[in-house]
Amino acid sequence: MLRETANYVSGQELCEHFGVSRTAVWKVINGLKEEGYQIASTPRRGYRLEEAPDILSESELKSRLGTTWLGQQVVYFKETDSTNTQAKRLAEEGAPEGTLVVADMQTAGKGRRGRTWQQSPGMMVSMTFILKPEFAPDKASMLTLLAAHSVAGAIEQASGLQALIKWPNDIVINGKKTVGILTEMSLSVEQDSIHYVVVGIGINVNITTFPEEIRDVATSLYLESDKKVNRAGLIAEVMERFEKDYTQFLQTEDLSAILEDYNTHLISRDREVRVLDPKGEFKGISRGMNKNGELLVEREDGSVANIYAGEVSVRGLYGYV
Ligand code: BTN
Repeated sequence: MLRETANYVSGQELCEHFGVSRTAVWKVINGLKEEGYQIASTPRRGYRLEEAPDILSESELKSRLGTTWLGQQVVYFKETDSTNTQAKRLAEEGAPEGTLVVADMQTAGKGRRGRTWQQSPGMMVSMTFILKPEFAPDKASMLTLLAAHSVAGAIEQASGLQALIKWPNDIVINGKKTVGILTEMSLSVEQDSIHYVVVGIGINVNITTFPEEIRDVATSLYLESDKKVNRAGLIAEVMERFEKDYTQFLQTEDLSAILEDYNTHLISRDREVRVLDPKGEFKGISRGMNKNGELLVEREDGSVANIYAGEVSVRGLYGYV
């Protein structure tokens, strides 16, 4: 309620709204102050929220979320192994579609291809949400592309920086990786339908320094903009954008609704790329993604390869010279 108005909310209004006593309201306000919320309290006028701390508690997230179904259940961990692992466990236990898992610290954050995902406690966004789509399993890889689109938009909105997508699942700012996405799927016993999908997103938000080994290839929103970004606000923005993108995706079961905007955010567009194809490596020019999520790469002989999986290095990025 305090967040919803820029003005004072009287103690009386809070008591009536929640059906509790003045003392109960006072206790909750004190609890919030202890969590770091700056709340002005003035006799007769009531309480006013002056500033919120950068915390990811369930109530902080819920008070910011403007979604209708995504993130209606929030599970917050101060520390956990991996939000993807926890989301999968919750999905196995029957957690509803849309459940959001967030953590301030992951002790076993997972990257793609078995890599680990570095941590800076309290400085990153580590989030995973559960989806239970009814479409065919071969369409699930498009969810990563969809998420990359939603996250790029959210970052631009929250930080004012230009966020570009390195197909399929990185977001790059000023040439350095800032976001990684790891989507994992569980199939039904018959293997012909999706049991659930978890979409895990890691964003380097307020990190101030990176270890020497990755300093040239990784960055954070703070390092690029010189501004701290509120993580709960950023998560809410990602969730709202993904809910919208996903709703459109379900109608066509392809990426046509976001395609144009996606391609304007594609870092490799019209740049030289090296495709690490299992059948052999080749070079070409990236001509953008199609509505099925495939990257179109024009070979030297003018033929076009549709790349649907695998590693694609972009010339001039992450050390590919
Ligand atoms: C990559 O670029 O290799 C993907 C990194 C994905 C990291 C995120 S952080 C939240 C979620 N939980 C995990 O363990 N991994 C993903």
